[in-house]
Amino acid sequence: MTVRVLTGITTTGTLHLGNYVGAVRRAIAASREPGAESFFFMADYHALIKCDEPDRIEASRLQIAATWLAAGLDTRRVTFYRQSDIPEIPELTWLLTCVTSKGQMNRAHAYKASVDANVAAGEDPDAGITMGLYSYPILMAADILMFNAHRVPVGKDQAQHIEMARDVAQRFNHTFGKGEDFFVLPEASIDQEMELLPGLDGRKMSKSYDNVIPLFEGGAKALREAIARIVTDSRLPGEPKETEGSHLVQIYDAFATPAQRQAFRDALHNGLSWGEAKQQLFDVIDAEIGPMRARYDELMAHPERIEEILMEGAAKARAIAGPLLQRCREAVGLRRFQVLSAPGAVTTKVKAQVPTFKQYREADGQFYFKLLAADGTLLLQSLGLAQGKDAGQWVSRLKREGQAALADAPVVREGDEAALLAALDALVAAEAQAAADKAAAAQSNG
Ligand code: TRP
Repeated sequence: MTVRVLTGITTTGTLHLGNYVGAVRRAIAASREPGAESFFFMADYHALIKCDEPDRIEASRLQIAATWLAAGLDTRRVTFYRQSDIPEIPELTWLLTCVTSKGQMNRAHAYKASVDANVAAGEDPDAGITMGLYSYPILMAADILMFNAHRVPVGKDQAQHIEMARDVAQRFNHTFGKGEDFFVLPEASIDQEMELLPGLDGRKMSKSYDNVIPLFEGGAKALREAIARIVTDSRLPGEPKETEGSHLVQIYDAFATPAQRQAFRDALHNGLSWGEAKQQLFDVIDAEIGPMRARYDELMAHPERIEEILMEGAAKARAIAGPLLQRCREAVGLRRFQVLSAPGAVTTKVKAQVPTFKQYREADGQFYFKLLAADGTLLLQSLGLAQGKDAGQWVSRLKREGQAALADAPVVREGDEAALLAALDALVAAEAQAAADKAAAAQSNG
C-alpha cells in the first residue's frame, strides 16, 4: 500500500536554514522514496490567521513556493499546491466545524497560550483572539482529512493538532459513516531532527529568537554574514576547541558527510581557529544550497512559471478533494432534491451503547485519557499525568466504579452531564458483565 504523506507550511515570512534542514530537505528526500505519495502545500489560509499584511502574504507564498521548487521538489511525483486554490478545503472545514466540540478547541495549545498571556497581562482572556486562531485546528484537520493522509510530518508543537484531526475524523465517520469511513485517521510523524538545528546563539533556530541563518534571501553574502555572527567561546587560534555540544559543529554536521564531520572535529581539536571553522562551515553549506540559490533567483524572476506549476498541482489535488467532498455533502444531507424515499422512515438514530476510553501521550510528554460516548462525543477529558500507568489506573477505576470514582478523578467534564452519567453506568455494567463472563468461563474450564 502506498503511504500518503502530507504537510503544509504556513506562508508568513521566508524559510531559514533550520526550516530547510528540518522540513524541506527531509520532505523532498521522503517524497523520492518508492511507495510514498506526497502532498505538500502552502497553508496560506492559515497564514491569514497570523498576519494581516497583504503584501507580506503575497511575498511569502511566492518565496516559499520558489524555495521548495529550487530545493528540488519533483512536482511530477508530488502534489504541490496552495491551500487557497482548493475551495473544497474551507467547505470541508465547515462540515467538520459542525462536529467539533468547543471544549476540545478550548484546549488547543496555541489558543490556550494566547489566553494565558492575556490573563497574565491582566486583560480580558479573549483579548485580540480571532475566531481564526480559535478554529485553526479545524482548518488543519480539513487540510489533512481532505486527502486521506496517513502520515503528517510536523514539529512537536503541532502534535496536538494531529490528535485533534483524528478525533474530528472519528466523529464524522461515526456520525455519518453508516459503517463506511470517509476519513483515514492520520498519524503525526515527529522527527526530533525537526527541532534540532540550533541558531546563532545555540538555541533552536527560530524567527522568534532572532537567531536565524537565512536560506536564500540576501544571497551568499547574507549567509556569510550570518555565519560570522555564530556565537562561539573565546578560545584563541591554536588552542584546542571543545566540539562536543558546540552548535557551530552541529550546524556543520547537518551539511557534512561522516568523513567531513570527523575531519572538522579533528581540526578543531588541533586548534583550528573559529574564524577558519566558520569559513569551512560556509563552504559546506554553500556547496549544497549554492546551486539551489541560482534556481531560486531564476524562479523568482519568473513567477508565471511557478503559477503554472501550482495550477497543475491544484488540479491534481481537486481531482481527489472533489469526489470526497461530494460524498461528505451527501452524507450530511446536502443532496440534490429528489422525492424523499420513505418519509415515515426518517427516524432519529438509535445510538449504540458503547462508550470508549482513549489513552494517549501529548507533546508535553504527559499522559492523557478521555472518554468518548458511543457517537464519538467527548464526555471526559483528563488532565496531564506524569505516568502512563496512572492514566491506565484511572481508566480502570472509572470502568469499575463509574460515577463513584468521578469526584476524585483528574478529569474535566465535557458536554452533557446526563450523557456522561449514562456512559459511566454503561461502562460499569459492561465491566461487571465481562467479569461475570470470565468467572463463568473459568468455572466451565475448571
Ligand atoms: N499548522 C502548521 C504549522 O504551523 C502548518 C499546517 C497547516 C499544516 N495545515 C497543515 C501542517 C496540515 C501539516 C498538515 O506548522
